[in-house]
Amino acid sequence: MTATKHDNSTQQPVDDGYIPDDPLTDHSYDGIQEYDNPMPGWWTALFWGTIVFSILYWMYYQNGITPDRSIHAEYSRAVAANLRKQFAKIGDLNGDRATILKYSKDPEWLNFGKVVFQTNCTACHGNNAEGRVGPNLTDDKWKNVKKVEDIVKVIQKGANGNAMPAWEGKLHQNEIVLVASYLLSIHGSVPPGQGLPSIPGETHVISDLDAPAKEAKTE
Ligand code: HEC
Repeated sequence: MTATKHDNSTQQPVDDGYIPDDPLTDHSYDGIQEYDNPMPGWWTALFWGTIVFSILYWMYYQNGITPDRSIHAEYSRAVAANLRKQFAKIGDLNGDRATILKYSKDPEWLNFGKVVFQTNCTACHGNNAEGRVGPNLTDDKWKNVKKVEDIVKVIQKGANGNAMPAWEGKLHQNEIVLVASYLLSIHGSVPPGQGLPSIPGETHVISDLDAPAKEAKTE
């Protein structure tokens, strides 16, 4: 059998007299030396290429040098476009009493208000608006709310020095109106005694909640 220089089918070192002309490194381990065989050029190029690519990728999509192209901007655009599509049916809602009461009886849009509530409000008000850090929103005791319209106003502007954050600018006006309608629709749904007890200052009832509908401004 004639051994070639690449034949390693036996465990024996094959000495065919081949001596590569690569230079030696100056490492020596117990007298064993190694040739200085750099990684192939294509491999090194790929390696540096991935690093350069990752920096460019990060700059383009993540760090805001190109703010309108970041993934976050793209997401916001997609959400806004989606909302516009959904709201095409109902137009821009006015936060007046009649509108809030109307949508508090509309199952399709109530479901929308519920999703807004669950996405943004449960951390402070609890899953069923029974109260957590923020007050119970299902009982008859209100602090910043005296009339139906005030629910929308509090959500827009916030209350108590941002303990209740202002949602104007963060939520679409329609989302604010529809979440207000949702709150009215679950009024009284948490049995008395089970939600968070009223917080200091919560003494009002909503005075015009049950007023006759004809008093409302026309829609
Ligand atoms: C960071 C916590 C927090 C989040 C999130 C939050 N709230 Fe509040 N909310 C509060 C606190 C605290 C109050 C009580 C403010 C006060 O004492 O005047 C409050 C009060 C309110 C009130 C008025 C209650 C009253 O009796 O006057 C309404 C209505 C309300 N929140 C609705 C919402 C809705 C709808 C959302 C989601 C879009 C939301 N909140 C998200 C903390 C929060």
